[in-house]
Amino acid sequence: MIKMAVIGAGLWAQEHGRIFNEMEGAAPVAICDLDRTRAEKFAAMFGIGDDQIYTDHKEMLAKSGCDAVSIVTPDFLHTEVACDCADAGKHMLIEKPLATRRDDVFRILDAAAKNKVRIMVDMHNRWSPPFNNVKAILDSKKYGDPVNAYFRLNDVKSVATDMLSWASKSSILWFLGSHSLDTLSWLLDSRPREVYALSSRGVLDGLGVDTVDVYQTSIRYENGVIAQMENGWITPNGNPCVNDIKFNVVCARGKMDIDASSNNLLQVTGDDRMDTGDCIVSNQVFGHHKGFAYESIRSFLKKLESGEEFFVSLEDSARVVLALLAVMESAETGKIVTCETV
Ligand SMILES: NC(=O)c1ccc[n+]([C@@H]2O[C@H](COP(=O)([O-])OP(=O)(O)OC[C@H]3O[C@@H](n4cnc5c(N)ncnc54)[C@H](O)[C@@H]3O)[C@@H](O)[C@H]2O)c1
Repeated sequence: MIKMAVIGAGLWAQEHGRIFNEMEGAAPVAICDLDRTRAEKFAAMFGIGDDQIYTDHKEMLAKSGCDAVSIVTPDFLHTEVACDCADAGKHMLIEKPLATRRDDVFRILDAAAKNKVRIMVDMHNRWSPPFNNVKAILDSKKYGDPVNAYFRLNDVKSVATDMLSWASKSSILWFLGSHSLDTLSWLLDSRPREVYALSSRGVLDGLGVDTVDVYQTSIRYENGVIAQMENGWITPNGNPCVNDIKFNVVCARGKMDIDASSNNLLQVTGDDRMDTGDCIVSNQVFGHHKGFAYESIRSFLKKLESGEEFFVSLEDSARVVLALLAVMESAETGKIVTCETV
């Protein structure tokens, strides 16, 4: 039985709790949030006793007897708790991005190595069925090597204006760019060598959220493949899906296209709007959690138990952060920036 503790009891932590609760061989045993009311709500959802509700993660690490921890704090608050978990000898599932500063990346890498703990960052787009299929096709080489790729991964405005209380302290690059850069590097089987990025802002500033609206990034990979990545937080709220996801890869003898934001598997229409129902991300089938966002969490538990390597390596996730920092630097300086690697 893998005893899981959770740090951060906000929106996304509930998805972690659902799988720890549902999966045989795992259980949520403790919850920590700076806001005790949130922690209590989480505990009530998953049958965690009052004595395992904490507001201080160090106290939780000392007393809960957990085997591993999932870190679901805001993007820029993963490092301190991750280093403390490593020092306490706990394995970790960390929400993306691994970190948002260069020094923090190396602090986490060092802490994991020193304490011999295992970390997987929740890059769940690798489990998305269309992307996972593209990976298999590319690896088969049936259509030859990839030459260029395009990936748009945008959110509707309300994610920045209403859903995340901390959007102005983060960025669409951390929130979604981490997924798209990880997916591109995994599919193209290479490391980003250099980036050139443009950004635009003003729409979200005008709505009181002090952050960039959209980044357009050109990437050259070490294997020569070129890619274009778009990450925006200003898709109109009327979009039928919270994300706008378009992907294309052109190979020597073929191409693959994904439109994951309007797959039209399910349309739900009211008097004022139509939404596409979620059938692949975090949906349920006969009460069981089935979407790919849950598959990554399940995979973490299975690999932790078996001792096999995670499908997402810690180094891959570290490189994503370093490359996104290069993207930001390029957008600020107007220059091509070489990506640091580990
Ligand atoms: N994989 C995905 O698609 C996906 C989707 C949504 C969010 N996320 C990620 O999950 C993380 C959390 O996002 P969210 O939407 O749940 O945020 P949230 O604001 O709803 O919840 C974060 C919680 O962390 C708590 N917290 C902050 N610092 C803490 C600390 N030191 N100790 C204990 N609790 C602390 C806050 O009080 C808050 O309750 C982010 O990194 C985000 O990018 C991932």
